[in-house]
Amino acid sequence: MEVKVPATTTNFGSGFDTFGLALDLYNSFEFEPSDRYRIEVEGYGGGIPKDEGNLIVRVYKRACEVFGLEEVPLFIRQRNNIPPARGLGSSATAIVGGIEICCALHRKEIPLEEKMRVAFEFEPHPDNLLPAFLGGFVICVTDTDLLYHRLPFPEDLLLVFAVPDFEVPTKKAREVLKKEVRLEDAVFNLRRASLLVSSLLTGRYDLLRYAVQDKLHQPYRSVLVKGFERVAEEGYSAGAYAVFLSGAGPSVCAITTEEGASRVGEAMKRAFEKEGVGASVLKLKASEKGAFLKEKIYKI
Ligand code: HSE
Repeated sequence: MEVKVPATTTNFGSGFDTFGLALDLYNSFEFEPSDRYRIEVEGYGGGIPKDEGNLIVRVYKRACEVFGLEEVPLFIRQRNNIPPARGLGSSATAIVGGIEICCALHRKEIPLEEKMRVAFEFEPHPDNLLPAFLGGFVICVTDTDLLYHRLPFPEDLLLVFAVPDFEVPTKKAREVLKKEVRLEDAVFNLRRASLLVSSLLTGRYDLLRYAVQDKLHQPYRSVLVKGFERVAEEGYSAGAYAVFLSGAGPSVCAITTEEGASRVGEAMKRAFEKEGVGASVLKLKASEKGAFLKEKIYKI
């Protein structure tokens, strides 16, 4: 059996810790019962633990314990297509993956609220976790009692990422934030986050550039992302509707049309390079599909 979990981009500038979107790029976890835990890793993450220290295994074991299901040792083949520590939700895929593996193995339907309770023990970011479970664009309202609103994302928009060749751990990206914010900065973001939702729902993409403006996290995090301002500027010059830091960074995300995607991607990549930073480009669609199970069909 195989569980596939999508990448996510979060925040959208003004919606810090609130907005999350699933993307059509998946990490996949093939698994089967085994005599002991064994992990094989393909793609990103050569240094990932191959034993019980592996994040998917730790989450799987905890999920079995919390859901009262038998823990069976597993062989897991982990195919990582999502660049790690780049603000694309790669660790959320491992957490959601571990929980979904537990449910799939035992053929057990577990309510999302219970799954999220386990997920939160490993990562306190519903804006990555909820879209990874559910797909779509999710407005995360509360953590523990799980209030959220999931919306479809406009099909005519593309998400273009300039992914720099360095990592920024989320922990570090949260340490640079202020614990208290000024009232006028909170109001600045409230206004723009509201505008983001209304512009997406009504197709007023011309407003998105204002809607992603932010005073709560990007100004502080940009010190960790060399070239961020230049990348944003050149993304806009190349025709992006909006440019913002993807999640905690360091990837930079642009919202574009399908026709404009390559031009914007190239411009952002070049902007990073002008700052002496190597980068690659990912052009992705939103995914309405969250984590899902793929079973092999054997022909007789
Ligand atoms: N909203 C979180 C943050 C996402 O920006 O820190 C972390 O992946």
